[in-house]
Amino acid sequence: MSVDLQNLTDNARKTSVEVLNALVADGIAVSRALKQAHWNVKGPGFIGFHELLDQVKARIDDGVDNLAERVQQLDGTAISTVQKVAEASTLKPYPTNLVKLDAHAKAVAEILREYGGKLREGIETTDEAGDPNSADILTAASNDVDKDTWFVSSYLG
Ligand SMILES: [Fe+2]
Repeated sequence: MSVDLQNLTDNARKTSVEVLNALVADGIAVSRALKQAHWNVKGPGFIGFHELLDQVKARIDDGVDNLAERVQQLDGTAISTVQKVAEASTLKPYPTNLVKLDAHAKAVAEILREYGGKLREGIETTDEAGDPNSADILTAASNDVDKDTWFVSSYLG
């Protein structure tokens, strides 16, 4: 049986499912980029940065979970396979040749900033389409991403 939430137009539901799924794909891409950095980073400051990356990843994953579960509330299908994520993500690919902490901090801050911008666009689109609840879920995710962008950028002085 469909959830069929009251006072939500078909257009609002359809728009939100599209926006949320696009951001699920981007969030999963960020999550994998964080592991790329967590495993490969080397140099002074290693342990703090290595551990921070896993904390950031846990917050990204929680945000993605909330987005995907909102898709279910809207009678959509959440998409999460690596093949579909690779097709759907619009973020710049995270480089796989980085080693130094500075280089990873710069690249991680950049991908978080890009994701934060896309979340903000999603807040606007879902709100304008008439689904403030999805906008609210995206706002919560975006607050975490902004804070983590600050944490990671702080490694760059
Ligand atoms: Fe680890």
